[in-house]
Amino acid sequence: MEYGNLLVENRDGIVIVTINRPKALNALNRDTLNDLKAFFGQDALKIQGLKGVVLTGSGEKSFVAGADISEFNGLDAQGGLEMSQNGHDIFFLIERFHKPVIAAVNGFALGGGCELAMSCHMRIAGEKARFGQPEVNLGIIPGYGGTQRLIQYIGKSKAIELLLTADMIGAEEAYRLGLVNHVVPAGEEVNKAIEILTKIAAKAPIAIEKIIECVNAYFPTEGFNREVIEFANTVKTEDFKEGAAAFLEKRVADFRGK
Ligand code: COA
Repeated sequence: MEYGNLLVENRDGIVIVTINRPKALNALNRDTLNDLKAFFGQDALKIQGLKGVVLTGSGEKSFVAGADISEFNGLDAQGGLEMSQNGHDIFFLIERFHKPVIAAVNGFALGGGCELAMSCHMRIAGEKARFGQPEVNLGIIPGYGGTQRLIQYIGKSKAIELLLTADMIGAEEAYRLGLVNHVVPAGEEVNKAIEILTKIAAKAPIAIEKIIECVNAYFPTEGFNREVIEFANTVKTEDFKEGAAAFLEKRVADFRGK
């Protein structure tokens, strides 16, 4: 298994997958998404004795700082539709993976990074972890399931506040709201995830697989389809062009509602 943007390490059946683009704070560009698709869709299924997967980010600063904004240039509504649908397909691969997947959130988990962490079955936050859905700062909405899974974890009231304000929350607040399972000292995220996966690995594998299927079956999927359509509808606005340009030019966006 060789990937351009993932490091994969098998520690006695617990596989640590590290998203490795630290200079871009591990932002999810197309290649990284393709790597995740190849790993969860094909390669991981062939790993003998797989117990579970830990997903983390390279460096001390970031888990994943979102979709790669530098790839937004020239994105049109059709491209937005395809981008969002592709992200949904990959994140559902993770959520529906037959072995437990735990996000070890070592820093920023913003936009697509928060969405990626939410597609995992559990989240361990280091003390410095920061969560948020800042898409409205860019003139768009979350496109990888954020409008749906945030509600699933923390309820409609706080979810709509975070989605509308783009506010970031720290690890303790994320724990209080139920977004993360445990908060640990910085640097201990992966170890805690391994500890939990080791415990689960002693249980009956078929029962574990069926628990994952049944928990997922509780949640409706219509909202995800709506999110893909509305993501594309925001991608075609002038506000999106302004928001993405403002981020790359390191200035505040001037939105016009067009
Ligand atoms: N896409 C592409 N590049 C990104 C990125 C993203 N989502 N997030 C960060 N980067 C890049 C920055 O452009 C910068 O690159 P540069 O060194 O070539 O200028 C580098 O990563 C470091 O980021 P910087 O903004 O300088 O770090 P910071 O500590 O000042 O701020 C964040 C950190 C996470 C708060 C800030 O980078 C940020 O807001 N990122 C975007 C988050 C976002 O909106 N995500 C949703 C996208 S849909």
